[in-house]
Order: sequence, then structure tokens, then C-alpha cells
Amino acid sequence: MTRIVRTRAELRAALDRVERPVGVVPTMGWLHEGHRALMRQARAADATTVVTIFVNPRQFNVADDFMRYPRNEARDLDICTAEGVDLVFAPPASEVYPPGFDTVVSVGAVARPLEGAARPGHFDGVATVVAILFGLVRSDHAYFGQKDAQQVMVIRQMARDLAIPTEVIACPTVREPDGLALSSRNVHLTPAERAAAPVLHRALVAARTRWAAGERSADALREAMRATLAGEPLAEVDYVSVADAAMLTELDRVEGQALLSLAVRFGTTRLIDNESLGAEPAVG
Ligand code: PAF
Repeated sequence: MTRIVRTRAELRAALDRVERPVGVVPTMGWLHEGHRALMRQARAADATTVVTIFVNPRQFNVADDFMRYPRNEARDLDICTAEGVDLVFAPPASEVYPPGFDTVVSVGAVARPLEGAARPGHFDGVATVVAILFGLVRSDHAYFGQKDAQQVMVIRQMARDLAIPTEVIACPTVREPDGLALSSRNVHLTPAERAAAPVLHRALVAARTRWAAGERSADALREAMRATLAGEPLAEVDYVSVADAAMLTELDRVEGQALLSLAVRFGTTRLIDNESLGAEPAVG
């Protein structure tokens, strides 16, 4: 039976009675198959599974994006129940950021490129809310999707630096049959944009294929992504990146582990995706 709590006090009381280890899946709701995979991973590894549902205003650098972020709590709760989640924490903003709240958690170098550069303030918002959620849930494990690879790196750095004893676990990206990575934002795509969006995955596959054939020039791999994206008129490229897997600095040559990533706009919807080179596909 899934229990829903909305305040810090209710959460604390509920957590006092649960079995450990505790696994948490932090979400902003509009749950999809990718979230369900995270919940299943938590259920397989942890005695208690907690899902948090909170659309965090502090991680949206554009107010409009926050307003139009999709929400459907009743549906989300049905999904949590179906997945056997023990506890859902769905707080109002005042419980996450109580009156007088005045702290920003700002991660350094790994948060600066890519999404950090494209969305100023975004990772401050993510690191701050996740630090609060980790503090409140006191989870042993936390599960995130590898689709947001840089977010996983930022959260790992934050947890390590702040000595938060929650292990951050990245789970493989879940894709539609045509390769589109699942994302709550996909709901905003028009039918034509939805048909065009798998080009992100095709671009990553094109670069990976060149790499697998022995190409080590990062520019050649970036060009492979750009050339694929150029074939899709609805795709407006924000960035393509071939970066080192540790700090996300752009590479000249791919000799060790690397992350291919891209951000592409379709009309008003911005999608991201990534693929690791030279490493196991997702960190377990
Ligand atoms: O990935 C998300 O849904 C959010 O960035 C997170 C981690 C729940 C923080 O608000």
C-alpha cells in the first residue's frame, strides 16, 4: 500500500518506521516508463522505496518552462501504487523551501559546461533541491536516469563533497522503439516534431558507429552528429559535444572514456540525449 506524505514532519514520522535500506527515486512527476524502471531498480535493491514528486521551481531558468511543465499527480500516484512504492513524498514548495530558506548548493566545474552553460542556474537548483531531499529522506541509495548524464555527475559531486551518505545510482536510459529517450517533455512535441525527434538517437548512433570503426577525432564525431541532425529540418541544434567522461571538458581526440551528448530544439521543446563511449553503457 503506497502512503503519501506532504510535510517534512509526516515524512520523518513515516521514515522512522520503515525497514532499511531505503531507496529514493527523486522526480518532478509526469512519471513514465523511465521512472518506472528506476522504481523497479529501487524495489529490487532496497527494503523500502520512496518516490519524491516535486516540480522544483529553482531549476527552471525560464519561468515559462516551469509553468508548462506537465503535471498529473493522480496519475503519478497510480503509477507509484502499481510499482509497489512504499512512500511518496509530494510536498508543497513551502515544505521544501520553508520561510527564511536562504541557501544555494552550487557545484563547480562539472556543472559548468553543456546544460550548465545552456541553462544558467539550472544545476544550482538541482543540487540544492536534491541535497534537501537527500537530507529529508536519509536514503541509502538514490536512482537517476542516465539520460541526464551531467545531472548524475553533478549530484554525485554534490553528495561526495557534502559527505551525504546516499549512494547515487545511474540507470540506463529507457527509449521508445524508434530510439527516442523517454522524457516528461516529449508530451509537448507536436506529431511532426515527435516524428522528427528520434534524430537525436540516430545522431548518437552515427557518432558511435564512426568511433567503433576506429575514428578518434572528436571533431569528426561531432560532425557525424551534426550531419545527421542537419537531415531533419525541424531539429534546431543547441549543442553537440564529445567530452571526457570525468569532467565533461571538450576533447580533441577520444582515447579514453567519453560522453557524446546533444541538445536539440523542436519548436518550443528542448530535448537532450547522450551516449557513453569506452565504458559500460550505464553505471550500476
Ligand atoms: O531529473 C529530475 O526530474 C529533476 O532534475 C530532479 C533530480 C528530480 C530534481 O528536481
